[in-house]
Amino acid sequence: MHDQSPLRAETWPMPRTCPFSPPPDYVGLREHPGLPRLTGPSGRTVFVAARHEDVRAVLGDARFSSDRSHPDFPWMRVGETVFPGFRPSLVEMDPPEHGPARRAVAGELARRVRDLRPKVQHIVDGLLDDVLAGAVPADLVSALAVPMSGLVLCELLGIPASDRQEFTANTTVLTAHDAADADRAESFRSLIAYFDALCATKMTERPEDLLGGLAGHQLFSGGEGRWAMVELCMLLVVAGLETTATTTALGVLALLEHPDQLALLTADPGLTPAAVEELMRFFSVAELSLIRRATADVEIGGTLVRAGEGVAALAAAANRDPAVFADPDTFDVTRDNRRHLAFGWGPHQCLGKNLARLELRIVLDTLFRRIPTLRLATPRDELRYVNGSAFSVSALPVTW
Ligand code: HEM
Repeated sequence: MHDQSPLRAETWPMPRTCPFSPPPDYVGLREHPGLPRLTGPSGRTVFVAARHEDVRAVLGDARFSSDRSHPDFPWMRVGETVFPGFRPSLVEMDPPEHGPARRAVAGELARRVRDLRPKVQHIVDGLLDDVLAGAVPADLVSALAVPMSGLVLCELLGIPASDRQEFTANTTVLTAHDAADADRAESFRSLIAYFDALCATKMTERPEDLLGGLAGHQLFSGGEGRWAMVELCMLLVVAGLETTATTTALGVLALLEHPDQLALLTADPGLTPAAVEELMRFFSVAELSLIRRATADVEIGGTLVRAGEGVAALAAAANRDPAVFADPDTFDVTRDNRRHLAFGWGPHQCLGKNLARLELRIVLDTLFRRIPTLRLATPRDELRYVNGSAFSVSALPVTW
């Protein structure tokens, strides 16, 4: 057993100093014997799992709870509960509630995502038509990555065309890092009210879409069921938009900055699925959700985590673990990435991963096929990066 006094993190998430590398301190956390302890800016101390094996052990063990409404949940940042009383569905549920709800959503999602391929292609083509017809340089964050993930979510949720402008305006503010808290709270309230009305309609009309399909399920019927559906819609906004948009923008950046890898991809589009997995591993943008509270004494990596204590599982550190990935800091689109943990692991593993993959594959293939001379209009070091709930880049000016 290992015991030690806690390290301190002045900011959480820890800052990245290079867009292509996790925070430098992750190396020390991974190499630390046992699980190191870390005190975050909120004053809470958690154990840190940074090795691949330990991250999987934590995320795969049902004795670790995701219930953030518990008074002892180990928040790492100050002011994380911006919307008290609201619980964004699956991701914060524990057994026995989680399993049935997850199965209901997973079945419906899988069916709808299969049908979305032509729509995603249509959305990407439309956005690229506008980019090509617009001013140069173009910003691929605001002109492609963000609207793509927003419009795809509109398709998934069956949001009518007449509502999409206001819907995307609200989701953009909600997920923007530089938005004022008051504006984010206002967008949050507007989205809740919007989803409440939308879910009521879907429950009456039962259209052939995700919410129409869910309305037929016992868990999503009646007044409580409607609120459960609203919570699910909010989760899809929070979990699906920023992550996918960010990986798209950073993915384009990584390919432009690694021309040898881009050349491999453009010479053989069959490599795109592997390239997308490498981008997921390389950036691991969504690691901050992976915090848990032990509900029993559990030994992880030689350290005893006692009931009530918290663990932060660092997927970005695990995805650079040399015990699993050879030469882990090299960006290699031909790598075998079956073991990456960018979508989490275990009972809460990402339910939208196939949708994210579909979007990433289509957007990268289409972008580099239609604009083969694409290049950065601003040097990489002058771009503005954001260490928010997901690591991201604010704007990606490109020319061709
Ligand atoms: C690059 C894109 C994405 C990444 C990296 C990502 C990552 C993750 C991670 C790490 C988790 C696990 C959270 C935990 O264990 O606490 C998760 C859960 C989840 N994600 Fe994603 N996600 C992405 C895109 C999406 C999309 C597009 C959707 C749907 C529109 C989505 C829906 C969900 C849902 C519903 C869960 C909760 C599953 C559960 O708790 O049972 N994600 N995601």
